[in-house]
Amino acid sequence: MVFQPQRKILISRGEIAKAVDRLASEIKRDYQGKQPLLIGILKGSFVFMADLIRQLDLPLELDFVRLSSYGAARESSGKVRIIQGLNTPIKDRDVLVVEDIVDTGITTSFLLDYLRKRKPASLKLCALTDKPSRHKVPVSIDYLGFTVPDEFIVGYGIDCDEKFRYLPDIYTLED
Ligand code: IMP
Ligand code: MG
Repeated sequence: MVFQPQRKILISRGEIAKAVDRLASEIKRDYQGKQPLLIGILKGSFVFMADLIRQLDLPLELDFVRLSSYGAARESSGKVRIIQGLNTPIKDRDVLVVEDIVDTGITTSFLLDYLRKRKPASLKLCALTDKPSRHKVPVSIDYLGFTVPDEFIVGYGIDCDEKFRYLPDIYTLED
């Protein structure tokens, strides 16, 4: 039988679109005259990244890294692995990391440390969602879409064990 847990809408596609517009105008304003390099964390950020870049109207470039700390579990293992690293040199570039969720903050702070060592001209973070009550390490988010409660969310690129990424809205899962 197909796995169908109960789900409840948390953030609608309309609210997401408004947040993407707002984030894009903040980013556009701050990066005027620059050619930022956006680095998306796969796989969760790919839908957000696709919507965001099409609102930016900047001569940006992009790359992706694939990190994993989760496997099939819903709790972070606390250990981050690089599954696919960067293909673009970032020294002296204006780098903006694009993430789907900051949960414990471990994944994001690991990536920011990894990138900082490569001496970018600037390094900032844009996250679609943040669960501040779950942070285990400090992370400062420069551009934030939504603060979300301590619940497991899916949709708009975000998965539960690879399921539900295709949903256009964001849902909480209840099991
Ligand atoms: P962190 O290292 O605990 O901050 O976790 C970050 C990553 O865990 C995110 O990029 C997500 O891929 C994943 N994650 C955290 N919370 C959720 C959730 O509610 N739904 C799906 N994935 C999540
Ligand atoms: Mg992720």
